[in-house]
Amino acid sequence: MIGLLNRALAMEQASAIRYRTQAATVTGPHAPVYAAMFKESATESDGHAEKLRERIAGLGGAPTLEVEATETPFPTDLGGMIEFDHGEEEKAVVLYQEILRSIPHDKETLLHETVEHILTDEMEDLEEMARLKG
Ligand SMILES: [Fe+2]
Ligand SMILES: [Fe+2]
Repeated sequence: MIGLLNRALAMEQASAIRYRTQAATVTGPHAPVYAAMFKESATESDGHAEKLRERIAGLGGAPTLEVEATETPFPTDLGGMIEFDHGEEEKAVVLYQEILRSIPHDKETLLHETVEHILTDEMEDLEEMARLKG
């Protein structure tokens, strides 16, 4: 369980960095709108990471400092960024579904609630990215 949660934490840490980089580098007439959206996504990822650290520590584990590797070259155009983010949100939904399935329902209620909440956020992120992708 700790291992799965740390996988998610490394993913969230990578997402926060990716979204902040996109916010700083996005270009085009709608750049300010997308920069604000990417910053919001980064803040959400930071929040998810924080919750995961707390749950991991609460279970007696050590929260990882690792950042999941991001494939390079990284897209620098808006369309490429959205496409990439859509894929990452898809991966997040799958991982949190997997984590949720592996939590014993009778115990670890706080952990179950936390992961359920994060999964809902990820599904909303995925819906938003699907809409932006067109
Ligand atoms: Fe997240
Ligand atoms: Fe997300």
